Amino acid sequence: MTDAQPDIRRLTYADLPQVITIERRAFPTPWSLAMFVLELSKPSGICLAARLESQIVAYMVCSRYDTVWHVMNIAVDPDRRRQGLATALLEHLLARITDPAARYTLEVRQSNFPAIALYERYGFRSAGLRPRYYQDNGEDALIMWRTPATLAGRLDDVPDASRA
Ligand code: COA
Repeated sequence: MTDAQPDIRRLTYADLPQVITIERRAFPTPWSLAMFVLELSKPSGICLAARLESQIVAYMVCSRYDTVWHVMNIAVDPDRRRQGLATALLEHLLARITDPAARYTLEVRQSNFPAIALYERYGFRSAGLRPRYYQDNGEDALIMWRTPATLAGRLDDVPDASRA
């Protein structure tokens, strides 16, 4: 866990300048400001920011489609990694969603071992590929799900899991 407990709150429009600074350091193809604004405008989503000493050090964007929660974005300031910040955001998200039937999904680059390790620790399992999903290098995306079945070691409530 992180040395200092982060303050985790809903992400707001006023936070976006700090978020964009981290986003540009975290991803080869960062989201635009407009993409964050669009996600924040969706009333059913959960968007969180983690702060240490009033500075945003990590954030997460999660959208809801019916009973499925899509983790759209999660990133930690490169100077603050491996301190449990992404873990704290994920735990906060999972604590907020009390529906035991909730399912979670996300896409991740096949080469992104840190992120895949983090997600696997939280019960996400690989259940398919989106070929050439990332336009910058043509890399495939791994589709991961965390569902009641994946938590029990199965994939039977995961859509299209046969493609895994
Ligand atoms: N190598 C191996 N495992 C790693 C890892 C790394 N570099 N980073 C995280 N993990 C795994 C470990 O199991 C770790 O637990 P441990 O430190 O006790 O071994 C666990 O994830 C939790 O790590 P945590 O400290 O909570 O993660 P983080 O705050 O460093 O954030 C990312 C992880 C992936 C969000 C961060 O590296 C990041 O922002 N990367 C760039 C953006 C990105 O790729 N986002 C995901 C897009 S799908």
